[in-house]
Amino acid sequence: MNKNTKHHDPEALRNHSYDGIQEYDKKLPNWWLFTLYGAMVFAAGYWAYYEWTGHMLPGYESVEQKVAEFQKNMNANGAAPTDAKLCEMSNDPAVVASGEKIYVTNCLACHGADLKGGIGQNLVDATWLHGGTPTDIYNTVSTGVAAKGMPTWGPVLGASRVAEVVAFLISKNSTIERTAP
Ligand code: HEC
Repeated sequence: MNKNTKHHDPEALRNHSYDGIQEYDKKLPNWWLFTLYGAMVFAAGYWAYYEWTGHMLPGYESVEQKVAEFQKNMNANGAAPTDAKLCEMSNDPAVVASGEKIYVTNCLACHGADLKGGIGQNLVDATWLHGGTPTDIYNTVSTGVAAKGMPTWGPVLGASRVAEVVAFLISKNSTIERTAP
């Protein structure tokens, strides 16, 4: 049988010639076709998943969403209480008891069991290096004094526990000016 009359002779040359170049009329290899069809199926699935489920956001949107979430948490966590609020908390025995526990666990080692200081400052006298209003004390505890060895407690304890331990300090220090709630 003549090779060139076979329907799918892989060696058959097509009739045309461009610049003297002729082509075979070969079938596309299966691996190539599978890759093509596979890509098409994947694209359809991907498109449907992306458009219909809402599970995937464009990169910038998912970043924006995360940042907004983070900021919300920060605001909820980071709002500094007022002098009046801290004084009010210092009159609440439950808050003071909770603050004392936080003190014993985190602060006692440096500031002493009687709060009279050691490595850290005396916290029951009238002398304050970083301000002696309740909010000053709150800010010092929250941000720390890194250069002097006072840790930054805000991120460790969170705003509400910093407020509790400060309420405990206020309850122990008779020199702090109380602001009526
Ligand atoms: C590793 C030791 C250490 C620990 C733990 C520590 N502090 Fe301090 N703290 C210091 C030192 C040191 C200073 C003095 C900083 C300075 O000289 O400016 C200080 C200062 C302070 C001040 C400011 C005093 C002033 O005169 O203005 C407050 C308030 C305070 N600490 C509260 C706390 C509380 C509350 C905790 C626990 C949550 C705590 N500290 C845990 C070492 C410590």
